[in-house]
Amino acid sequence: MRMKVLLLAAAIWILLGHASSAQDTIKIGFIAPMTGQFSQIGKHLIAGAKYYMQERGSSVAGKRIELLIRDDGGQPDTAKRIAQEYIVNDKVAVLAGFTFTPVALAVAPLSAQAKIPQIVMGAGTSIITERSPYIARTFFTLPQVAVPLAQWAAKNNIKRLVTLVSDYAPGHDAEKAFGDEYRKGGGEVVASIRVPVQNPDFAPYLQRARDANAEAIFVFIPGNQAGAFARQYAERGISASGVKLIGTGDMTDDDLLNSMGDAAIGIVTAHQYSAAHESDVNKAFVSGFKKATGMRPNFVSVAAYDGMHLIYEALNKTGGETDGDKLIAAMKGMSFESPRGPISIDPETRDIVQNVYIRRVERKDGELYNIEFDTFPAVKDPAKANPN
Ligand code: PHB
Repeated sequence: MRMKVLLLAAAIWILLGHASSAQDTIKIGFIAPMTGQFSQIGKHLIAGAKYYMQERGSSVAGKRIELLIRDDGGQPDTAKRIAQEYIVNDKVAVLAGFTFTPVALAVAPLSAQAKIPQIVMGAGTSIITERSPYIARTFFTLPQVAVPLAQWAAKNNIKRLVTLVSDYAPGHDAEKAFGDEYRKGGGEVVASIRVPVQNPDFAPYLQRARDANAEAIFVFIPGNQAGAFARQYAERGISASGVKLIGTGDMTDDDLLNSMGDAAIGIVTAHQYSAAHESDVNKAFVSGFKKATGMRPNFVSVAAYDGMHLIYEALNKTGGETDGDKLIAAMKGMSFESPRGPISIDPETRDIVQNVYIRRVERKDGELYNIEFDTFPAVKDPAKANPN
């Protein structure tokens, strides 16, 4: 009898211990492509998140943070299934990661239904944040960078231009935002070319762009395609022909830039992050990230790094409470200094507000970099800031 009581006491002790350790662990369900054409972006999402935890540690507000990571292969249906399993089986407090707009959109209804924050770190279509009141974004939106670049192009005497974009939602956002603003500034878009998003062959589209006899080509392609694009751009001899190449900074991804070679020199882009950004915070980030991962950080790894900071700081504010309404409320209006410069989460839209830099590719200390030469401070997503 005495033995039975002891055993029972031991069992209760173990059960209680287990229950309290489960309560002390907060799970983040991270979804990113480790396979398929978007895996280069996925690698940086994961590296940025892990590097943040390595630097900052894995506990916040007295709780242990557990990062669960699964591969969606860039497939919306797979991402949705994983998100469902994270919510139902793993009881995650936050969903995070997400590249490729269709993936972020597929998960949004689950975030809304389950009232679980979804931190979008790698998808740039403007409407994403409107698809769940629990979405916050630490990446950028295409109109956010395309509008400043259109203003720069119109002011810098580029009169006739071709747009060439990837044929899916962020490309359509870029084409419209850039085109509308550029025309307002007196420019003429002589052709609007759309390239398939799945494994594109850029050569015939670049040839069409060249034949349009414009002074410049404006380009948006998702970051992972930068290497293939640059090769075909160099093969066509477009840089030598005097036609300028401008675009969103996805095209001159810091991770792929060195492999693009001298054909990339002179490309002007607008974006929120450059590994060459001059600040102490960025210098420490670049050297620490390189040491930890062997890679140069890019606009994706910095978005994951900042997204983890947003989650940690929100948990700090709630004292470790994981209620979705409290967490998203804590994220609204949060501001901090990122390696890219000052950033904040717009309390109305939950989208990121950040500096947009105009940069030119130059060789510096033997490597290619996006060198910032002009700044548009604290830009909100213009597609939401000026509804019309
Ligand atoms: C997107 O699918 O929204 C996306 C992906 C990669 C980028 C930009 C946007 O570089």
